[in-house]
Amino acid sequence: MKKILSGIPGLDELLDGGLYERSSTVISGPPGTGKTTFGVQFIYNGVTVYNEPGIFITFEEFPEIIYRDAMNFGWDLKKYEAEGKIKVIFTSPAVLKSELEKENGFIDRLVAEFDAKRIVIDSVTLMEQLTTDHQELRQVFNSLINGLKRLGLTTILTSEIPLFFGNDGAIEASLGFVVDNIVFLKYVEIESELETALTILKARGSKHAKDIRKYKITGKGIKIDTKFAGHQGILTGFPSRLISGKTLLEEGLIRKKR
Ligand SMILES: Nc1ncnc2c1ncn2[C@@H]1O[C@H](COP(=O)(O)OP(=O)(O)O)[C@@H](O)[C@H]1O
Ligand SMILES: [Mg+2]
Repeated sequence: MKKILSGIPGLDELLDGGLYERSSTVISGPPGTGKTTFGVQFIYNGVTVYNEPGIFITFEEFPEIIYRDAMNFGWDLKKYEAEGKIKVIFTSPAVLKSELEKENGFIDRLVAEFDAKRIVIDSVTLMEQLTTDHQELRQVFNSLINGLKRLGLTTILTSEIPLFFGNDGAIEASLGFVVDNIVFLKYVEIESELETALTILKARGSKHAKDIRKYKITGKGIKIDTKFAGHQGILTGFPSRLISGKTLLEEGLIRKKR
């Protein structure tokens, strides 16, 4: 089966040569770890490097914010939108769900019209609103993923993990089982510096690296670095100093929720 490249420096190697075509990947992490950036970079690279049009669905941020933040990385989404190669859509989980269940809903039409190959949904956390039942939520995610697969799309879903407290596991109990790949993002404190770590928890039908990698968000986007050498308990361990939300905001490490 064919693999497609995310073009995110370092990520495709960890996934043994990229993502399977039509596969679904969840990028899971707390606020500010770069989930939206991962998604936008995937779509932008798709168009500019691999000639694969893409759809970016946002439930939380207005398209204007997505365009503005992307521009700060030098990614002119509007230009490609004008050329009919990128589409940024602001919608709700309920509308997306019903459009996918319909014959010839808007995603179907976009795929037919501009031959979209990639899609990002940012973030599926809001889809929890659709039902309080874990079993049913799993069903919702299953039909979402299968709907997109049927349309030939390779999907990235972002999923938000609360910064300080465990969540009720609704997403993990449902989404984790139905997606093909899981990319897990985390803040870690190493020698009084806050760093970001990435690991591939699952890659269905593929080899994948098991190491915990540092990654950085720079003016050019996300770049995955080396392993955390000489450290243990990064994924599961507690940081030695508890970091409050206020401190993180003050340090500009996370943005205020809009
Ligand atoms: N132009 C930029 N240059 C460097 N870092 C940036 C830039 N824009 C955003 N960031 C970093 O990316 C983080 C936000 O990423 P984002 O993708 O919105 O995270 P998430 O979607 O996980 O909340 C910010 O906290 C900031 O650290
Ligand atoms: Mg985001």
